Amino acid sequence: MLGRSGPVQLSVNGVAHTLDVPRDTALLYVLRNDLGLNGPKFGCGLGECGACTVILDGVAARSCVVPAGIAEGREIMTLEGLGAPGRPHPVQQAFIDEQAAQCGYCLNGMIMTATALLDRHPDPSEAEIRAELRYNLCRCGTHVEILRAVLRAAGRPVAVLNDDVPHTPHAEVPAPAGLEPRIDGTNWRPPSRPASQAPQDEVAGREGGQRVGVVEA
Ligand code: FES
Ligand code: FES
Repeated sequence: MLGRSGPVQLSVNGVAHTLDVPRDTALLYVLRNDLGLNGPKFGCGLGECGACTVILDGVAARSCVVPAGIAEGREIMTLEGLGAPGRPHPVQQAFIDEQAAQCGYCLNGMIMTATALLDRHPDPSEAEIRAELRYNLCRCGTHVEILRAVLRAAGRPVAVLNDDVPHTPHAEVPAPAGLEPRIDGTNWRPPSRPASQAPQDEVAGREGGQRVGVVEA
């Protein structure tokens, strides 16, 4: 309850806590700052991105906009309550199997939201998974792998999306004039020059507009 005074009693991952914090403190801050549970992430702080998602009485909830007092009397599950490094939850394992991460910042929200979905609806369609994750943002653009991971966790075939799309490596098609295939065959690049002939910014290591490492001159 928000209107009451006194400490906040929270049940998190099956453990009871009594916390002397203002009752309108965002649950996210209590979890991270007072309980040291850093699975939920601060992204937008506005309920928009999903990075802070926890499961509150079985429902995915954005802890950055839930006052701690409102969470009192409910069962809160954080990422830490799902699995452990040597014993991942099936949804976590599916994300590992699909390597569904770039920076990983969004994964807490993706995994908790997917887990809440699968707990209440163990056999969702791809459309239902997409709808559930629609407002969880991944700034790295890992959505395809994330969708595959949730399909895998749901026991659905994952040979959709990437694998059934014929892929022609760039190395097998004629390169545009003046370019050569990159070493991994995924794109083209200007022809390499010996480092001794390269301008200084190339010596520092740039390829396709991205810094790739320092090249010994
Ligand atoms: S940090 Fe809570 S939704 Fe973005
Ligand atoms: S993997 Fe970086 S935000 Fe999703």
